[in-house]
Amino acid sequence: MDGMRAFAACLAVAVIVGAQGAAAQSADSTIKIGLVMPMTGTVGAAGQEVTAAIKLYVAKYGDTVAGKKIEVIIRDDGSVPDVAKRLAQDFVVNDKVAILGAGTTPSAMAMAPISAEAKIPTVVMISGTSVVTERSPYYVRTSFTLGQQSGIIADWAVKNGSKKAVVILSDWAPGAEAGKVFEANFTKGGGQILDTLKVPLANPDFSPFLQRAHDLAPDTLFVFVPAGQAGTFARQFAERGLDKSGIKLIGPGDIVDDDDLPTTGDALVGVVTAGIYSAAHPTALNKTYAAAYKKATGHRANFISVGGYDGIGLVYQALKETNGNTDADAVVGAMKGMKWESPRGPIAIDPRSRDIVQNVYIRKVQKVEGEPWAIEFETFPAVKDPLKEAEAR
Ligand code: PHB
Repeated sequence: MDGMRAFAACLAVAVIVGAQGAAAQSADSTIKIGLVMPMTGTVGAAGQEVTAAIKLYVAKYGDTVAGKKIEVIIRDDGSVPDVAKRLAQDFVVNDKVAILGAGTTPSAMAMAPISAEAKIPTVVMISGTSVVTERSPYYVRTSFTLGQQSGIIADWAVKNGSKKAVVILSDWAPGAEAGKVFEANFTKGGGQILDTLKVPLANPDFSPFLQRAHDLAPDTLFVFVPAGQAGTFARQFAERGLDKSGIKLIGPGDIVDDDDLPTTGDALVGVVTAGIYSAAHPTALNKTYAAAYKKATGHRANFISVGGYDGIGLVYQALKETNGNTDADAVVGAMKGMKWESPRGPIAIDPRSRDIVQNVYIRKVQKVEGEPWAIEFETFPAVKDPLKEAEAR
């Protein structure tokens, strides 16, 4: 993370310089975007990844849209929802931002009343829980949902012979959602859940949970850990000998996070996940993106980073369409139904739910030139959030 921190520090300087430059301009020739991100704390890696990607986008496409100067301001909520709420309020009241960016689920939930009441278009760039986008009519998501991935991997596992699963989840909202959708699809397909084990979010020790899972003798282990924890998980998984136990490890993409994968040696080789992004996604656009991200940060681009890249991309495209008008209904109206090519593949904003529609890929970890990568081998196109789809039916 050191390279990433240094990069973030440069970004902070760039932002301050940008702010001073903008003060000299007339107020309505500048559009301020206030990002409330977890730059430190339990999910600090995620904020670093999102903002690194946003910096790349702005460097590539410039800081002017529809004749207006775009000023991106980043503030750290420390992964604490109350702080996120206060920062969002400051952004609206004092900085007079036109657009907000929200990060993780708990922080996005805390900020939602401000987006709704002050009518501020807000792009949700990290959160993976379904309900978040329903908390403000001005929330639009560019990240993913855990349901989008967990149902697909459950179906894949059943089809490929899994019958008895143990579930290990990080104990917070996205974990609960991953477990709920996995269990629904797995049991519907005739599978049985032997137990669901919940691991504390902060500084997790997976060892006792892995031991318990091993003792239950399942054929399959479904795991969700958030961005930043895949490396620790992989190490403890191998230390307990689970990589050689014959138990199939599966999950949403988070357990093979590209930010951690290069450090996991052979521990995750063969692991199959359903995910929205792999740094190995074989398109020209992704090759350019992943190379630029690596050059800027020293790290592989990961599934969290694309939420930031596409989040700022969505703001740029919407402002272009409104010709710089920042009225919330105009901006969110422009975002609804928008479709474009992301480094992860084709994506769109569902006009009904304001949630992201994207491909979900089944991937297997394989070593390529000595390093583990999540290699895609099957594509589920244009997947919507299954929980909202179930509600709409
Ligand atoms: C979330 O905030 O919902 C979240 C964060 C990190 C993940 C997944 C979900 O890896």
